[in-house]
Amino acid sequence: MTSTPAVSGGCPMGYGAQAPADHHGYEPFAMENPFPAYERMRTEQPVMFDERTGLYVVTRYDDVKEVFEKWETFCSENAQAPVRKRGPQATGIMNDGGFTAYSGLSARRPPEHTRIRAVAQKAFTPRRFKALEPMIRENVKASISSMISRGDNHGDIVSDLAYSLPTITILTLIGEDISLVDTYKRWSDARAAMTWGDLSDEEQIPYAHDLVEYWDRCQELVARAHATGGDNLTADLVKAQSEGAEISDHEIASLLYSLLFAGHETTTTFISNCVRVLLEHRDAWDAVVANPKQIPKALDEVLRYSGSIVGWRRKALTDTEVGGVQIPEGGELLLLMGSANRDESRFENGEDFDITRANARDHLSFGFGIHYCLGNMLAKLQAKIALEELTSALPDLQLVDAQSIPFRKNLSFRVPEQINVTLNVN
Ligand code: HEM
Repeated sequence: MTSTPAVSGGCPMGYGAQAPADHHGYEPFAMENPFPAYERMRTEQPVMFDERTGLYVVTRYDDVKEVFEKWETFCSENAQAPVRKRGPQATGIMNDGGFTAYSGLSARRPPEHTRIRAVAQKAFTPRRFKALEPMIRENVKASISSMISRGDNHGDIVSDLAYSLPTITILTLIGEDISLVDTYKRWSDARAAMTWGDLSDEEQIPYAHDLVEYWDRCQELVARAHATGGDNLTADLVKAQSEGAEISDHEIASLLYSLLFAGHETTTTFISNCVRVLLEHRDAWDAVVANPKQIPKALDEVLRYSGSIVGWRRKALTDTEVGGVQIPEGGELLLLMGSANRDESRFENGEDFDITRANARDHLSFGFGIHYCLGNMLAKLQAKIALEELTSALPDLQLVDAQSIPFRKNLSFRVPEQINVTLNVN
């Protein structure tokens, strides 16, 4: 067992000296191609304290899953905490603006988490998702048509297909005005950057204003649902409260604050990754074109091979141990699901993309245990429809050669920003 001094919450003194200077090639915020570094860490130092972020980085499948599973030892209260401390100006703006949003679910602990999740789960009914399906398909078809009708034989999968679809879906589900897609994308970018980004104090300032506006809007939505009701998820939550469910207005607004971010950012990336990864593996794309019934399996393999979220945080509630490394009480962990999902001990030839893989569904891209992603079905539904329509309308779609796909700097979210394709319309 590797022993590290138990320093509560901070860098275990002396451990930095043991860590190799190159951190096995791992750069916490670099998302272009983190996989070679993940592989090295799994082999050379599967649990590594990274003094640059103050996080114990966990890379093996069994360790990552075990930490997710043991919620009594590893809580999630740091899951939404800013990786870089909030600067004084941003803090002032947010305090003055009455920003009191707290995580809807992901950073809450039982019993509060259990109580709120039970209410939220009741509102996430199959009926609500089913009702959205025709609209999702129409939106996908319209996006593909407008890409084709430009007539330049060119598209960007991110901006032309994946950007607005999941945002319109979640706004509709929540009962929000769908013309606010760009506003919500701006607010969500602010949230991703403020929480998981590597921002200086100055860079935080515009994002702090965005977060104040975003939180105001979530509170307005709750007030509006109280005043006028409606046939949407917000109204369902407010109705459940009036019928005795234990949930406050602040908790409902916090849930909206979470869903209006988690409900589209990750799915925009998921749809983008489905197209990108399948086209990078032409045989797989052609197999799906030939037999769309393979799409559900392909979706799981994309989630395993290239998930939207590659790392998620937990905090040790007691002195403990992971993969033979001691973690002090208060020690913070980064669970690299992006690495766990390629661990050879779980996935044979884990670095290969294979849509026929029998156990792709064992991936950890939606987390595991009590916080398992509430929106996984909705995300898959949208990606399935997007792939069905795209492979049918544009079977000869190709990635533009020799492009280098830009990925945003972030600790957790691996977001491709542009994916250029040639349409090859028949
Ligand atoms: C491909 C798309 C998505 C990915 C990769 C993803 C991933 C995740 C991950 C990693 C977690 C944390 C799990 C944990 O801590 O164990 C999570 C939680 C959550 N996700 Fe997703 N998500 C996606 C789509 C969605 C959508 C579409 C929604 C809403 C409509 C959503 C709502 C939530 C909520 C509410 C939680 C918190 C659950 C809890 O703490 O109990 N997600 N998701």
